[in-house]
Amino acid sequence: MSPATETSPSPINRRQFLTGTSAAALGFTLLRPELVRGDDANRKLNLGLIGCGGRGKWIAGLFARHGGYNVAGVCDYFADRANEAGEQFKLPAANRYTGLHGYERLLAQPGLDAVAIISPPYFHPIQAAAAVDAGKHVYLAKPIAVDVPGCLTVEESGRKATEKKQCFLVDFQTRAHPDYQEVAKRIHAGQIGRIVSMDVGYQCDTYFEGMDAEFRKSNRDAQARLRAWAVDQVLSGDVITEQNIHSLDVAAWFADAAPVRAYGTGGRARPFVGNCWDHYAVIFYFPNELTVSFSSKQVGYAYDDIMCRAYGMNGTVDTHYAGKVTLRTKDDAFNGDTRNLYEDGAVRNIAAFHRAVTGGDFANTTVPSSVRSNLTTILGRMAAYGNKEVTWNEMMQKHEKLEFDTTSLQD
Ligand SMILES: NC(=O)c1ccc[n+]([C@@H]2O[C@H](COP(=O)([O-])OP(=O)(O)OC[C@H]3O[C@@H](n4cnc5c(N)ncnc54)[C@H](O)[C@@H]3O)[C@@H](O)[C@H]2O)c1
Repeated sequence: MSPATETSPSPINRRQFLTGTSAAALGFTLLRPELVRGDDANRKLNLGLIGCGGRGKWIAGLFARHGGYNVAGVCDYFADRANEAGEQFKLPAANRYTGLHGYERLLAQPGLDAVAIISPPYFHPIQAAAAVDAGKHVYLAKPIAVDVPGCLTVEESGRKATEKKQCFLVDFQTRAHPDYQEVAKRIHAGQIGRIVSMDVGYQCDTYFEGMDAEFRKSNRDAQARLRAWAVDQVLSGDVITEQNIHSLDVAAWFADAAPVRAYGTGGRARPFVGNCWDHYAVIFYFPNELTVSFSSKQVGYAYDDIMCRAYGMNGTVDTHYAGKVTLRTKDDAFNGDTRNLYEDGAVRNIAAFHRAVTGGDFANTTVPSSVRSNLTTILGRMAAYGNKEVTWNEMMQKHEKLEFDTTSLQD
């Protein structure tokens, strides 16, 4: 029942990765974070997994495959999910944690060095903050949060992690890929000149039909909403934040700026019980008279693409998640191919996280850029929901918190 694939024009999709994931038999190496320093590059880190759904189990398999991690504990609100992951990693019952506060019990597990937080986005800020406070290194799935207060909490957690000499990495696959990095470097060096406009898009089929089917069977209570989180505006942040962030993150990275204001619209055509929209159209106005035209759809059939095309005065950069990444100027060209990005990006981030922890690099550079792009999606969402223009300052001043009533959930 995990949400469907974040697809792309790549011939390789996430379902193939999921079925290809192998469970690893894991032992324990007790290693305190304060002992993990530069000469410990080969030491194993004890990793806890928070959120044992589709991506959680899949990425925990990649952590295990890396060789520098033991998956030492798992946590999910639902016991069936925690047990599935527990079986995958041959963990004793005592290292499988459930309920709303299961992550706190996981964080108290002796010898744990780090956590991978792969739960629904609504919970990311609170779980990441608790992990940093507990002295753990944090590997966090995108999006970092569903609202402005959540983004600011993660920003603060990233700062705190740096102060406490802990790592905090946000897992965007694009930013980890050398071809994306190459075109970003060239853009920032001025090779395509001033960027005047960008086309940004995230087009895909209908996702989350499985979740919707489950949701229809049960009442719309808190537990049912948790099972169907990806079609729930509050728990997911809606599709623009939950999924479309992949393309808007690249746009903010290339622009190296946050938008000043946005005008938006959109809506929902698919007949889901959940309340997320399935299409958006937003114009973002960035500094230096840069206009970014963004559209997305998560409905219908055929045509999948996660793209960002930047038009500069002297050239154009065209990027597609798990596809071509190119740069063209009058006298130069760069041709990249990121075909296997979905897995490659995660593998690179997992390796970078290990190097950062064991090498003592606590700069945590992925945090500020993730806060910026996450806030960009929230600005687009606010503008679209209101069918109007919203400025960045208005969004920050409003400081709107999305609320989910957890009182009926199990502890
Ligand atoms: N390309 C990518 O970077 C990528 C791809 C897929 C998913 N993701 C992200 O990974 C996260 C999880 O997505 P998924 O596809 O695995 O979803 P999923 O529904 O398959 O898994 C989420 C799991 O979290 C559990 N959960 C719910 N509330 C919880 C809580 N309070 N504490 C602990 N666990 C809780 C659910 O029971 C479920 O097992 C999301 O943030 C999503 O955006 C990123």
